[in-house]
Amino acid sequence: MHRLPSFPSPITTPTGARGRTISALICAVAVGTATACTPSQGAVAPASADAGTSRATPGAGGTANTAGTTGAPGIGDPDFPSDGNGGYDVQHYGLRLSYDPSTRKLAGSATIRAKAVQDLTSFDLDLHGLTVSRVTVDGAAASFSRSRDELVIEPARRVSDGDAFEVTVDYSGVPEPMRDSANLGRYGFISTPDGAFVTCEPNGAKTWFPSNDHPSDKATYDFQITVPEGLTAIANGEMDGTPQTKAGKTTFVWREKHPMASYLATMTTGKFQVRTGTSGKGLPIYAAVADSFRGSLDKLFAETGKITDYWSSVFGPYPFSSTGGVIDDYAAGYALENQTKPIYGGFSPEPAIIAHELAHQWFGDSVSIARWRDLWLNEGFATYAEWLWAEHTGRYTAESAFQRYYANAADPMWAYPPGTARADDLFSAAVYNRGAMTLHALRREIGDQKFFPLIRAWTDAHRYGNVTTREFIALAERVSGKNLKELFDAWLFQPKRPAPVT
Ligand code: TRP
Ligand code: ZN
Repeated sequence: MHRLPSFPSPITTPTGARGRTISALICAVAVGTATACTPSQGAVAPASADAGTSRATPGAGGTANTAGTTGAPGIGDPDFPSDGNGGYDVQHYGLRLSYDPSTRKLAGSATIRAKAVQDLTSFDLDLHGLTVSRVTVDGAAASFSRSRDELVIEPARRVSDGDAFEVTVDYSGVPEPMRDSANLGRYGFISTPDGAFVTCEPNGAKTWFPSNDHPSDKATYDFQITVPEGLTAIANGEMDGTPQTKAGKTTFVWREKHPMASYLATMTTGKFQVRTGTSGKGLPIYAAVADSFRGSLDKLFAETGKITDYWSSVFGPYPFSSTGGVIDDYAAGYALENQTKPIYGGFSPEPAIIAHELAHQWFGDSVSIARWRDLWLNEGFATYAEWLWAEHTGRYTAESAFQRYYANAADPMWAYPPGTARADDLFSAAVYNRGAMTLHALRREIGDQKFFPLIRAWTDAHRYGNVTTREFIALAERVSGKNLKELFDAWLFQPKRPAPVT
């Protein structure tokens, strides 16, 4: 027996995002805009985001000045034109940070190793607020200026195309979270009474470190975070050594050695109860909960290990070196799939939510989008994972979830084609639920014998890379041997409910 799922699914999106209805006015605009609805437009990436299978070409699109020597102020995402930057490709962020909750002051020194993809007499980093005191490029003082959320850097010597270079930025101030962009409320670095809750999707990394703040430029990270003694600082990857305490301050060192999108980075700090260990399959687990969630620590630890292990049998090998989860007491009401450690904002997550955030480790974190309009490749997959988890645990089938959504002809998601996520309504319920339905329609069409190998081929072919929707459609056609253009067109790109799946 399968119980029907309780809809809408529990909170994993910023408050209201999942349940919000799209206004008639916005729908009319979407329907009336031919480019938003045709499959060719929707599925074809701009040159900047579709070049190669592993990553976008930074700076090649939009506002890039590829002929000159000025790095573009945006990486070329058509819907977020000033996000990220052009002209270089970051390899590594070394972040030295110190945070004092009593003054809410952050002091940072970011060392960024990058490679130029054009000659550069100047280039940008993204940084929101904060005061920059010094910038060096390859050790030499550089001049810099601020313009909105761009830190414009002029190195003393021109950087040549192809050169590796190193930028150090010293900065400090009281971080200000982002507000209202993409209908999200507050996100980024959010101070709390005892620390900070740091969840940055889509472009809030710049609220706490200078970055190429776009998922198409992934990099490895080291974090050295100093907080008042008694607090815990949590970042991505694994802890290096034991925290060192000196003069009332404790320094935590974390390293993420796999490529990571900037929005997945965190430095969540506060009073935490921590449990570490390994999953059944031997993967290290780091679980932490704010004191008020003390009673949820063991459950978070156990479910995280169990679900990570299960997904590795469904989606392919776990892509990172540890798994985990953090429950902070900041009542965000949503969770974010921070790499290696999803963060749950003020609630004890039920298994379906843990299953969603851990599925993102494959879909979003390891296999990352190159432009935000392809967000269904993250959220549709993670939502479908909730259905697969329900199916695995016998609560309900993916088919029953699909049918229940399909039955509601008045659902506003039919007016919102999820293959083109909209900048002003990025985390729409359509991207989540109609995105998940797209995968179920595909599974019905090609059968489990092709569907699950396709999913594993997808995570394998694009591990640690960047993708577009067009690449998923191509792989689905290759693995299944079927022409699937009509199916994907109807489910992803048409502003109306597709014909029933037979
Ligand atoms: N990706 C998150 C999820 O589906 C939701 C989310 C979007 C979010 N933007 C965010 C969470 C910003 C925290 C902060 O699980
Ligand atoms: Zn999600």
